[in-house]
Amino acid sequence: MATIKTIAIIGATGSMGSAIAKALSTNNNYRLLLMSNDQDKLVDLKIVLEKSGAEAYAFSCVKEASWEADIIIVATPYETEKEVAEKIREVATGKIVISISNPLNKGYNDLVTPPNTSAAEELQKMLPNSKVVKTFNTTFAADFMTPVIDGKVADAFIAGNNSDAVNAVSELVNTVGFNPIVVGDLTVSRTVERKQLLLI
Ligand SMILES: NC(=O)c1ccc[n+]([C@@H]2O[C@H](COP(=O)([O-])OP(=O)(O)OC[C@H]3O[C@@H](n4cnc5c(N)ncnc54)[C@H](OP(=O)(O)O)[C@@H]3O)[C@@H](O)[C@H]2O)c1
Repeated sequence: MATIKTIAIIGATGSMGSAIAKALSTNNNYRLLLMSNDQDKLVDLKIVLEKSGAEAYAFSCVKEASWEADIIIVATPYETEKEVAEKIREVATGKIVISISNPLNKGYNDLVTPPNTSAAEELQKMLPNSKVVKTFNTTFAADFMTPVIDGKVADAFIAGNNSDAVNAVSELVNTVGFNPIVVGDLTVSRTVERKQLLLI
């Protein structure tokens, strides 16, 4: 029997946070710890997830939501990641932290990160004792409803430095219906983040 993993989603009521939560909710190998600033929206989301059979808990505090998690998904805008990292640094020690962000500028025509780094690497610097893994940044929120496009399972790229963490994230990606493609270490996030800039 598969081990049950506890997943914290920070920004759970946003487009990506709620799409990931709904996609995970039908699989009973995951417990969901959901953090949002909007408690009304969060209660509505929790009801929807529980109807799908999920074990879901609601939090208004980033740190509390992350406390018990095996995997923390940061589903907030890039510019908030410093603040989120500061809040979870202590409780994220030894844990997998998933970076899904695209560090786009306001005009959506360039990245705010210089070419020699990426959002994922910046998050890793802020969380030196965690295992940051990049994925889902090339997956649109709506794709979680239909991960099969023209009869083909959509790919989700995965980049990370720790092989156990990359394997756990590959399993999660596969569970929500995507084809996990491990593309390399965390520096390859530079390429997948720029790839998404091109698509946008
Ligand atoms: N949308 C997509 O299709 C897509 C695809 C790939 C990757 N991404 C990436 O996914 C991330 C989220 O994008 P999104 O489109 O889901 O954005 P979104 O719909 O605006 O959701 C962002 C969520 O983060 C919460 N939030 C904002 N600041 C926060 C803070 N300081 N602490 C805690 N929570 C905070 C927001 O809650 P409140 O508004 O209540 O504060 C909201 O629930 C971004 O990094 C984006 O680049 C998005």
